[in-house]
Amino acid sequence: MPSTATIQLGDQKFDFAIIEGTENEKAIDISKLRDLTGYVTLDTGYKNTGATKSAITFLDGEIGVLKYRGYPIEQLAEKSTFLEVAFLLIYGNLPTQQQLNGFQNQISKHTLVDEDMKKFFDGFPSKSHPMGQLSSLVCSLSSFYPESLNPRPTPQEFDQTIIKLLAKLSTIVSWIYKKSLGHPYIYPQNKFDYVTNFLNMTFGQRTEDVVIDPIIVDAMNVLLILHADHEQNCSTSTVRIVGSSDCNLYASISAGISALWGPLHGGANQAVIEMLEQIKNDGGDVDKWVNKAKDPSDSFRLMGFGHRVYKNFDPRAKIIKKACDDILEKLGINDPVLDIAKKLEEVALSDPYFVTRKLYPNVDFYSGIIYRALGFPTEMFTVLFALGRLPGWIAQWKEMRENKEPIGRPRQIYVGEVDRDFVEIGKR
Ligand code: ACO
Repeated sequence: MPSTATIQLGDQKFDFAIIEGTENEKAIDISKLRDLTGYVTLDTGYKNTGATKSAITFLDGEIGVLKYRGYPIEQLAEKSTFLEVAFLLIYGNLPTQQQLNGFQNQISKHTLVDEDMKKFFDGFPSKSHPMGQLSSLVCSLSSFYPESLNPRPTPQEFDQTIIKLLAKLSTIVSWIYKKSLGHPYIYPQNKFDYVTNFLNMTFGQRTEDVVIDPIIVDAMNVLLILHADHEQNCSTSTVRIVGSSDCNLYASISAGISALWGPLHGGANQAVIEMLEQIKNDGGDVDKWVNKAKDPSDSFRLMGFGHRVYKNFDPRAKIIKKACDDILEKLGINDPVLDIAKKLEEVALSDPYFVTRKLYPNVDFYSGIIYRALGFPTEMFTVLFALGRLPGWIAQWKEMRENKEPIGRPRQIYVGEVDRDFVEIGKR
């Protein structure tokens, strides 16, 4: 491998160092490009731009590999719990039993939200989208915990903010769901583990705890683990860039939640189920919809298909597809949209349009079917994605701060008007 890359501008040559990551990813370090040459790079959508060096998540989209801190996603999904993975992502290593107990206890102690927060829930119209509520409520945590505004907290202070956010998000998410039903809020209980507590607050009744089927607890753990991090995607980059201005953690995560909402990103899980329902209600003619997705004059896309980085099977989609079959079978549910999803996948994967563009099902293609089987309404799906992604966002934000990264501020190539003289309003 060469140690430098040379850029030639006219008869001048400039050498730039080549950087290699631990998984042999290669980059040209152009951090001095503008100083040396006066040029910047242009890369809309950052398709070729590495924004940081990160030690959290590795993914190889060509062969479909995903690892958190070096551990394959398949092993984590099979053998660990969501809180173990959260600890791993945030602190870099798998916790010992003692560390895990301490982490779980700390989180249990902070699951209550300030009673004044209920007024926010009361203020939202009953039909407001859960993601809009989530983003606002998470940002509002900065008002309840103003110590988080300090951009240079001690590690202990920062740990407290992390714990509070992890703990309170599950309460906020379940209360958003209760609000959508017009049902009373269920308070968190320390006797439950993280996932059971969340499910109890979501599906429990006021007077008695609901008995949560262990199948559902396991499925929820797997879904949360699979969503826990995915390196520099749209929402994570948003979290890092907002945090780079020394903005507090709550506001940075709130911005990430907004970025996740879009149907091209985390909102795809809702869009997939809506699309599958539409195909079912239209008579289930899968070929017709595949043709629509291929038609350049039609804006319809197969939601849950394609990915910026994966040009092979998304390993998370493989795990979710299998989990989907298992869970529906164990719960005795027969969901007709699962058949449509499978047929759609089969047709698309053998169609030259999808094959040549390397478009495969992504994590969102089957996740919605599981969420639905677990009892969640469609509008809650992206909120559940956010609940899973939270540890990843926190880990990435923490890494950005620990690396002392500068404020994120891309350049542009200006293509607008030049030098116009102001003309008064009556003379235009
Ligand atoms: N259906 C039909 N055609 C598609 C699809 C799709 N789902 N995805 C990409 N293509 C086509 C594009 O039209 C384009 O074709 P062209 O070369 O003839 O112009 C080609 O494949 C490349 O697509 P781009 O949009 O350039 O790829 P990009 O990396 O910018 O977008 C994205 C990736 C946004 C995920 C895209 O594949 C998409 O819109 N998928 C559907 C939404 C979705 O499932 N999003 C969730 C992603 S996973 C996540 O964020 C959690």
